[in-house]
Amino acid sequence: MVKVNDNYLKLPGSYLFSAIAKKVNAYTAANPDKKIIRLGIGDVTQPIAPALIKALHDAVEEMGSVETFHGYAPDLGYGFLREAIAAGDYAARGCKIEADEIFISDGAKCDCGNIQEIFSEDAVIAVCDPVYPVYVDSNVMAGRTGEYDEKTGKWSRVIYMPCTAENQFVPELPEETPDLIYLCVPNNPTGTTLTRDQLKVWVDYANRTGAVILYDAAYEAYIAEPSVPHSIFEIEGARTCAIEFRSFSKNAGFTGVRLGFTVIPKELVRGGVMLHSLWARRHGTKFNGAPYIVQKAGEAVYSPEGREQLKEQVAYYMRNAKVIYEGLKEIGCEVYGGVNAPYIWLLVPGGMTSWEFFDCLLNEAGVVGTPGSGFGPSGEGYFRLTAFGTYENTVEAVERMKNMVSLRK
Ligand code: MLT
Repeated sequence: MVKVNDNYLKLPGSYLFSAIAKKVNAYTAANPDKKIIRLGIGDVTQPIAPALIKALHDAVEEMGSVETFHGYAPDLGYGFLREAIAAGDYAARGCKIEADEIFISDGAKCDCGNIQEIFSEDAVIAVCDPVYPVYVDSNVMAGRTGEYDEKTGKWSRVIYMPCTAENQFVPELPEETPDLIYLCVPNNPTGTTLTRDQLKVWVDYANRTGAVILYDAAYEAYIAEPSVPHSIFEIEGARTCAIEFRSFSKNAGFTGVRLGFTVIPKELVRGGVMLHSLWARRHGTKFNGAPYIVQKAGEAVYSPEGREQLKEQVAYYMRNAKVIYEGLKEIGCEVYGGVNAPYIWLLVPGGMTSWEFFDCLLNEAGVVGTPGSGFGPSGEGYFRLTAFGTYENTVEAVERMKNMVSLRK
């Protein structure tokens, strides 16, 4: 009889956001009259910007005529989009990234989850703790993480780099040398960032040790402070040690449209092999390209109208971030993030665990957030709220939280 991949059986529970959805569904089934405000998963609420909708419509029209119809997209992405990205996201910031170093995909989550396939089975990974759960879970599935210890919430072959209020959420270089270093800046879930100087420490370390940095910059559009780089390729030396993941979900509202990209410089070589070639081989074999109409909408992100409209959308969400941040501060909570990121990270009041606070917030205020422990053991005692709700719901959620007795203790 066939054997299953028993690495999957090692995964504790279900994927974080599926677990939350299940709990919320159970609550709404039991309380059908209660209005729930969802500030849990970082899903956008504002409609796609008009310039992008127009590009989508025009591309749909093209698909309806024999002269302009498009079949399979080139597996690494259309040149028009790769060139728009190279110019708009990289050349404009002084980074040397060629269009053919950019791989178009259907989103950063898949790329972040799949990238580990091009590395050896025994590669040791290092992650910030807390962090986006896909990095660890995808390595668990690949059998790279050793055994899970329920007591500590840690995997035996994963290097955890705690990022808490005690170290201002800045990871320290690990004692044991990792092969792969996942960095997410701005960080999901803490909403905190690294400055150019702090990131340079990691780039130098990776070049020195031969490690590769897997840099998730899905939230770069929310960076407001000039000391924070938008791309790791703004840092000297990154071309020989880093892979960058970008998403259109958070800057252009494409969570339901699906588009992202990965950048692998041709100078990134390990064991005499260009990682660019390996990813191109993987992409060509396992992926049939993001849809033409979606890539046309992606191109419109870089048009003058697109840029202007998306700047407004980011500002809309960041106004929400400010409402949450200041509202919680007003009632004496310890809060972080929310300045360069659409996430607010709060220290759970009253000594509750993250999941206890989740239940309390849901039951007492009808507000859904994300328990910090779902992002790693150092997330215990913290809680994440997203700024991606509507403004009206965000204001109401904060009012409800202000009225919660347990938040006032
Ligand atoms: C989150 O809430 O952390 C994100 O929305 C998840 C994702 O982008 O996949």
